[in-house]
Amino acid sequence: MEYYKADERRYDGMIYRRCGRSGILLPAISLGLWHNFGSVDVFNDFIRIAHTAFDRGITHFDLANNYGPVYGSAEENFGRILKKGLGAYRDELIISTKAGYDMWPGPYGNWGSRKYLMASLDQSLKRMGLDYVDIFYSHRPDPETPIEETMGALADIVRQGKALYVGISNYDAAQTRAALEVLKELRVPCLIHQARYSMLDRWTEPDLLPLLADEGVGMIAFSPLAQGLLTDKYLHGIPENSRAAKESGHLRRSQVTPEVVEKARALNRIAARRGQTLAEMALAWLLRDKRVTSVLVGASSVEQLEDNLKALDRLSFGADELDEIENCFR
Ligand SMILES: NC(=O)c1ccc[n+]([C@@H]2O[C@H](COP(=O)([O-])OP(=O)(O)OC[C@H]3O[C@@H](n4cnc5c(N)ncnc54)[C@H](OP(=O)(O)O)[C@@H]3O)[C@@H](O)[C@H]2O)c1
Repeated sequence: MEYYKADERRYDGMIYRRCGRSGILLPAISLGLWHNFGSVDVFNDFIRIAHTAFDRGITHFDLANNYGPVYGSAEENFGRILKKGLGAYRDELIISTKAGYDMWPGPYGNWGSRKYLMASLDQSLKRMGLDYVDIFYSHRPDPETPIEETMGALADIVRQGKALYVGISNYDAAQTRAALEVLKELRVPCLIHQARYSMLDRWTEPDLLPLLADEGVGMIAFSPLAQGLLTDKYLHGIPENSRAAKESGHLRRSQVTPEVVEKARALNRIAARRGQTLAEMALAWLLRDKRVTSVLVGASSVEQLEDNLKALDRLSFGADELDEIENCFR
């Protein structure tokens, strides 16, 4: 593959939104490397996805220490992609990584201790060949480590210059309130919360989203397509090569239930009337809410990514369309 040169018109079609009350603008669509960028995947495929993303104004790439499989391989592969040309645009990129889930054996390779977070970020930087990441996250709350220790580690990581901003992920509203309080005391504000949010999964709506909006913290929605359930992929069975069919995927065959498929079919009909695919409508539905800074999609092909980007062509919904969508869930 030739050395990569980015499309000069890359900023023409993307929408950028302010992340909470910060100085950072994020693309409305960001790319996640949880699946499809590991050592079990094909380098030429994922380098094309990454290049297409940046060529279309996706400046934000989201990783974690254990993305793969195998653990660490998505960061290693992203490091290779950076070396092969994307890295020349480092100042145009927002690269995030995380620690909080199982990474290495023994008591120091999991959860939220200072020991784990500090060591893990050093490993991530080495794998990606970076001096710093833009955002470092505590990947999940740790019920046994004092919140002061976990947030203290994040604040010190910023002071060391190894991350420019910090975020939290999978914290519920009460845990978020506690984390934000400590970060405020440490004078390192929380930039962003990363939470699962889609039409099929609304846990953030009652408490978390209002809290983040009040506190001026951005929100990035992960698995916005419910790992593919909110696309036309599973409308007629489980295709070979889909995440639900793969051993290494996190979507189980058992999650593709007749009830979910029925909802997806009904939603697909509404999307068709809007002139969108179901994936496009599912992303637009999230982005119609200004409190959602960005939707963090995965993609196993350039075509999927292109489809997802088309969501930006129609983000508004009529009240009747929103009612009809809600009716699919009653
Ligand atoms: N913080 C956390 O705890 C956490 C947890 C999960 C994810 N995340 C982040 O969120 C990112 C996205 O998560 P996700 O991969 O679950 O997101 P997703 O966008 O809901 O699902 C992506 C999958 O949906 C399918 N897909 C995507 N676009 C499609 C289209 N246009 N048409 C048909 N199928 C389409 C593909 O499945 P196939 O592979 O079957 O083709 C793709 O791999 C991750 O990469 C990661 O960065 C964070």
